[in-house]
Amino acid sequence: MLTKKQKIHLDYITKFIEKNGYAPSVEEIKKHFHLASKSTAHQQIATLTQKGYLIKENYKARGISIIQDAPLSPADTYTPFTPLSYEYSIGKERKVKDRFLKERFRGGTKNLNHSVEIKSSIQNLEKFINKIICGDSKKVLSEMPDNSVDIIITSPPYNFGLDYKSDNKNDTKKWIDYFNQLNEIWQECVRILKPGGRFCVNVQPLFSDYIPTHHLVSKQLLDLGLLWKGEIIWEKNNYNCKYTAWGSWKSPSMPYLKYSWEFIEVFCKETHKKTGEAKNIDITADEFKKWVYGKWSIAPERNMKKYEHPAMFPEELVARLLKLFSYKNDFVLDPFNGAGTTTAVAKKLSRRYLGIDMAPEYCKTAKDRLTETLF
Ligand SMILES: C[S@@+](CC[C@H](N)C(=O)[O-])C[C@H]1O[C@@H](n2cnc3c(N)ncnc32)[C@H](O)[C@@H]1O
Repeated sequence: MLTKKQKIHLDYITKFIEKNGYAPSVEEIKKHFHLASKSTAHQQIATLTQKGYLIKENYKARGISIIQDAPLSPADTYTPFTPLSYEYSIGKERKVKDRFLKERFRGGTKNLNHSVEIKSSIQNLEKFINKIICGDSKKVLSEMPDNSVDIIITSPPYNFGLDYKSDNKNDTKKWIDYFNQLNEIWQECVRILKPGGRFCVNVQPLFSDYIPTHHLVSKQLLDLGLLWKGEIIWEKNNYNCKYTAWGSWKSPSMPYLKYSWEFIEVFCKETHKKTGEAKNIDITADEFKKWVYGKWSIAPERNMKKYEHPAMFPEELVARLLKLFSYKNDFVLDPFNGAGTTTAVAKKLSRRYLGIDMAPEYCKTAKDRLTETLF
């Protein structure tokens, strides 16, 4: 049940959104109710969120939305802070009582659905469609229109010290510079991604430097306002990685953990739901059932020598991401396109594409691959 005061606050927020199409900021709520401080306004928002009337996105200034179907306060039927009650037995799915009410209470991002997919044709996009562009992504992306890309699939350089062509820094930057430069490109990516668009980034931390790149890149993307959708473990089964690098051999002083997998962090913009026409879905039932389990065993790319690129991902990885997270005819971007795996698979699967890379040699390979038969 709402108190009289809470009801007044909820009415104000509801009417504000109806009138303006966006939510009031905390400052506006404070001013409207002549509150002594912003923290009182924050408190009111938190209470309404807890009671299941609002959803609050932490990273947005106007990130409040109304839960339309909240006729009863979940507080009427669900009292928080009682011990979790669930039935659990090995081999069975764990059943949580009042799961939906608890989800609402926690205020996650699952039900955010306040964005409208941009359907109108976007100006100045033609020159980017079905192209391989050689240049710095930061610059190329800055020329692209807002909200124009359906899905980004990419793998940035990992700062491991690999020999990329046209890289005078030898893939070795100070970590602070590396992350700052990535962030500038992410900013553009987020801007040009459509609401509902997906962002799949393949990253491998440099464990020997103890730099958790996958967590730090995820933090950057969350701070830029994207919603975390999930994480895929790409199991490469490459157990031949240096077995002699033990850290401290047979001693707890500094053992070095080894990994035969990489990560794909998946994000989306503003809402988890991506609309599209049923006729443009190309994933089969078997593929769907298999691939929604977030651990994918796929062998590393075997053609790196042939394509003269030191860090490619395999076509199978891109094909799964495209079929699971996008529709046919969607516009696919890879801002670190390398030898063109993303663009080649996008073309093969009837998506439109744009691949950008700094190295002219890789761009030539990417263009050549567009004419090859894949899989
Ligand atoms: C890990 S590789 C991507 C490989 C690609 N996934 C493939 O399968 O071929 C990263 C690529 O990013 C490119 N690169 C690095 N900085 C860039 C920038 N600022 N703009 C565009 N490309 C860049 C490098 O030349 C390199 O080819």
